[in-house]
Amino acid sequence: MPERILVNVAWPYASGPRHLGHVAGFGVPSDIFARYHRLKGNQVLMVSGTDEHGTPILVAADREGSTPKEIADRYNRVIGDDLVKLGLSYDLFTRTTTRNHYEVVQQVFKDLYDKGYLIKQTTLAAFSAATGRTLPDRYIEGTCPICGFPEARGDQCDNCGNQLDPTDLIEPRSRIDGQAPVFKETEHFFLDLPAFGTRLQEWLATKETYWRPNVINFTRNLLPELKPRPITRDLDWGVPIPLPGWEERDDKRIYVWFDAVLGYLSASIEWAKLQGRPDDWKLWWQNPAARHYYFMGKDNIVFHSVIWPVILLGHGLELPYDIVASEFLTMEGRKFSASRGVAILVNDFLARYDPDPLRYFLTIAGPETQDTDFTWTEFVRRNNDELVANWGNLVNRTLVNAHRNFGEVPAPGELSERDRSVLDAVSAGYASVGGLIEQARFKAALGEAMRLSSIANTYLQDEQPWALVKTDKARAGTVLNIALRCVDALKVMFTPFLPFTSQRVHEMLGHDGFLAGPIEVREVAEDGATHRVLTGDYESWVRGWQAPELPAGQKLQEPKALFKKLGDEVVEQELALMERAPA
Ligand code: MF3
Ligand code: ZN
Repeated sequence: MPERILVNVAWPYASGPRHLGHVAGFGVPSDIFARYHRLKGNQVLMVSGTDEHGTPILVAADREGSTPKEIADRYNRVIGDDLVKLGLSYDLFTRTTTRNHYEVVQQVFKDLYDKGYLIKQTTLAAFSAATGRTLPDRYIEGTCPICGFPEARGDQCDNCGNQLDPTDLIEPRSRIDGQAPVFKETEHFFLDLPAFGTRLQEWLATKETYWRPNVINFTRNLLPELKPRPITRDLDWGVPIPLPGWEERDDKRIYVWFDAVLGYLSASIEWAKLQGRPDDWKLWWQNPAARHYYFMGKDNIVFHSVIWPVILLGHGLELPYDIVASEFLTMEGRKFSASRGVAILVNDFLARYDPDPLRYFLTIAGPETQDTDFTWTEFVRRNNDELVANWGNLVNRTLVNAHRNFGEVPAPGELSERDRSVLDAVSAGYASVGGLIEQARFKAALGEAMRLSSIANTYLQDEQPWALVKTDKARAGTVLNIALRCVDALKVMFTPFLPFTSQRVHEMLGHDGFLAGPIEVREVAEDGATHRVLTGDYESWVRGWQAPELPAGQKLQEPKALFKKLGDEVVEQELALMERAPA
């Protein structure tokens, strides 16, 4: 029975171009997972979009002297282009400014209100003296009343670790313009988190065995201290509050995080409509057998492990099965990031290098379970010593020799024990690599595929088919047949990680169809306007998490190297570019 897998990917803010840290957190891991499950024959729905409300967008609009809508339009395109180039295979990547999204958010808000889970309260909030706009807690800075640290933030002090309120700070100032904020009374709706405390505890108890430690520990610590949490803001940019007397106001909006997490649901509904099967979202959302996975950077955990589950419980939808949060990626950390905030943009990176080597690096050396640093030296080394020297070399040597001497898949003669054992070793990867991917252990899974590739390389090295063709062409044919079958099998295992080059291997081996086809960009019409989405015809791609049939006699294509060896000058050039980048 195929399983239903919902792959919910954190929505990047449309407030600027995204950098390698962003795609290391939510992007590459989610795509590996979705591609694997599709290959396995499961029914995958992978959704996300740009997060276009909230303070980050307003700050970007001020910075660029533009409107929030223009900012959202601009960066929705820029980010969408990056994600396509990186090969992220969303069933739907949409936006939070669609009519569909507004309707879903308002409907759920209204439902929670009607059920009594939203509480109206008056609080003291900080506003910018210059613009009159709300200042979110983390945009206020001042001296910590507990330890005296001069740069404590309105939500917490990074020095002593205590939780703070902006009104606690001594000499508070706005981080945007340095001015003292104005505190005013304001009415808001609070989501009643404590009402769900017991159910959250019970749910979390079932996650102890398989969630990543960062997620389980963080969440466990939050549960004893649940307080009602405001889910509306004093802003004019966002989803209007769908209640009489509130809907017309232009100074109150739903909090960006309440709207953003509901994007998973609204995007699934939009996807179903676009398929012409408007109820199909229910196959994932109202189906206890469906498994819901969430992918994100660690700064998103609380929103997915506490606030979102409360919304889901309140509204009556399935809870997350797993929350897969990555740690942080710094970029040339010691040299740049800490002091100047220099980041490597996805777009700049992919203008100069191919996507698969980046996907490789972010998986094998990325922040899966601890903060890690991207360095150009390490990128070049892993590209050359691992991708090029191991998997690239196996594909290249095998195909060049087979193509040159046979032009097709040679027929095997009788197999030796060694022939059989290398095939068996590689085939065992379907269980080992697949099992690790299912546990979201992507680094180990890719390492395992690379280990199997070395085993096949050693086989080739020992058997020397390039020498055998001169002395015993039949035996050379057998060895190359085995090597081609290893390459064919490994190509499938590498597909989730390295889709672009795996597709090329698929074609060089003479196969048809898409193992990893194109991601499509489409304009969707919605009441007179259009918005851009990413999607794909994944149903039509080749499936099978198993060794493909590779019949003797299948014509091979002229092979070309999969990966480029990078020279040492790359490191100096790139560091010089970072040196000149504006902070
Ligand atoms: N925009 C948020 C960020 O970049 C992530 C939102 S995830 C969501 O941190 F699903 F809640 F939208
Ligand atoms: Zn402090």
